[in-house]
Amino acid sequence: MSDQTNNESDTPELSTPKSTRSPGASTFGFDTMLGKLVVENGFITPEELAECNTLLEETGGSGSGHTLSDLLINHNYVTNRQIDRLQSDFDTRKSTQRISGYKIIRKLGAGAMATVFLALQESLDRPVAIKVLPTKFSSNKEFIDRFYKEGRAAAKLNHPNIVQAYDVGLSGEHHYFVMEFVDGITAFDRLEEEKQVGEKEAISILRQVACALEHAHEAGFIHRDVKPKNIMISSKGDVKLADLGLARAMSDVESAEAEAGRAYGTPYYISPEQIRGKVDITPAADIYSLGATIYHLVTGKVPFPGKNPSDVMHRHLKQDLVPPDHVNNSLSAGFSQIIEMMMTKDVSRRYQSARDLIEDIDAVVSGDQPQFAQPTLDFSLLSEVAKSTSSGAPVAPQIESFQKSGSGDLTMMYLTFLGISVVINLILIAIILT
Ligand SMILES: Nc1ncnc2c1ncn2[C@@H]1O[C@H](COP(=O)(O)OP(=O)(O)O)[C@@H](O)[C@H]1O
Ligand SMILES: [Mg+2]
Repeated sequence: MSDQTNNESDTPELSTPKSTRSPGASTFGFDTMLGKLVVENGFITPEELAECNTLLEETGGSGSGHTLSDLLINHNYVTNRQIDRLQSDFDTRKSTQRISGYKIIRKLGAGAMATVFLALQESLDRPVAIKVLPTKFSSNKEFIDRFYKEGRAAAKLNHPNIVQAYDVGLSGEHHYFVMEFVDGITAFDRLEEEKQVGEKEAISILRQVACALEHAHEAGFIHRDVKPKNIMISSKGDVKLADLGLARAMSDVESAEAEAGRAYGTPYYISPEQIRGKVDITPAADIYSLGATIYHLVTGKVPFPGKNPSDVMHRHLKQDLVPPDHVNNSLSAGFSQIIEMMMTKDVSRRYQSARDLIEDIDAVVSGDQPQFAQPTLDFSLLSEVAKSTSSGAPVAPQIESFQKSGSGDLTMMYLTFLGISVVINLILIAIILT
C-alpha cells in the first residue's frame, strides 16, 4: 500500500519561533536557493520575498542568528515541514545531478516514498524518468536487495501498457530506478481535472490496464499497488501501468513504518486480503485494486471513504459496496456488474484472471452480457415489488429501477419467487409429516 493523500499538515506552526534545523546543519546551497524555491513553489510572491529580505537585513541578517527560513515560518508563509520537504527535494536533486550518463532536466513529481525526475539519457539521447529513493532506504539491506532483484526482473517485462523499466543503480547515497518517460498525466491528475470520467474513457483505461496485468501476472508479477497515481495516460491516450516490481519492496518498508506508527496515506484501493496480511497474494488482489480505481474514476468517489486509514480498511473488509451505477446512474448495467465482480471481497468469487476480465469487457463493449459477472439480485427491491403487487400498487417504477440496477431479468425474478415458494412448501410438508 502506499499513499493516496498527502498527510502533510499545512497548518502553520505558530508556536515554533525558529526552524528546527540548526544553522550549522543547513547547507550553504539550500539557504542561498531558498528564496527562489519558495517563490517557485507558490508559497510567496516575489514582492513578499523582497519584503522578507529587507526585514532580514534590518534585523542584522543571518549574522544575528536569524535565517530566511525562520522569518518565513514566523510570518506563516511556510511550515517547518514544508521547509524540510523543500530541503529534502533540494538535496535529492543535488545528489542526482551526479548520476553518470543522465542529465537531470526537472522534477516530475513526488510520491510518499520517492521523487521522480525527467532526465536525458545521454548515450541514447532519449528522455527517461528517474525515481530517486531517499537516503533513509540505503541502510535497509533487505529492501535494497529486493529493490534490485525486482527492478532487474521488471526490466525483462515488455508490454505497450507497462511503463518500461530500464535500469537500477546507486548515486552517492541515493538508489535510483530509471524507466520510460511517459509524456502525459496520471489517472489521479485526470480525476483532479474532471472529478469523474465517462464510461467510454473508463472502459478504455480499464482494458489497457487489464492487458498490462495479464502480461505481468503471466510473468509471475503481482503489482500490489494499482491506484490512480500509478496509471499514466499519455497525450495520445495510451495508458501505461507504472511501478511494476517496485511495490513489493516498498510494501515491506511501509509495513515496517506502519508498525512504527507512521501511516503514509489512506488505502483507498487496497484489497481485503492485503489488509489481512495474507502471504499468498494472488493476481486477484490487483484486479480488486483496479476495480476500486475504476470505481473512483466513474463515480468521482472512492468506494470506501473513511475518517482514517484503519476506518477505510475496515470498510474494505466489512462494508457492502454501493453498486457504481447507484452512484452514477448513467453507467450501463454490464459495466457496473464488471466493477462489482472485480471488487468482490471473497477472492474465490472475484475474476481469477485478467484474461476473464478482458473477455467480459469485450462482451460489454460489443453490447452483450458479461460472461463472468452475473447480475446480483437486490432482495430488498424484490420484497418491495412483492408488497406493491399484493397492495395493487403499480409495479412499473420498481421493475424499471430493478432493470436499471443490472438485475432486470424478469424471468429471474419469477424463478426466485418460485424457488422461495417451493422451499416454503417443502418446510410445510416436513412439519406436517413430523
Ligand atoms: N514514468 C514516468 N513518466 C512520467 N512521470 C512519472 C513517471 N513515473 C512517475 N511519474 C510522476 O511522478 C509522480 C510520483 O511518482 P511515484 O514516486 O511513483 O509516487 P506515486 O505513484 O505515489 O504518485 C507520479 O505521480 C507522476 O506524476
Ligand atoms: Mg508511482
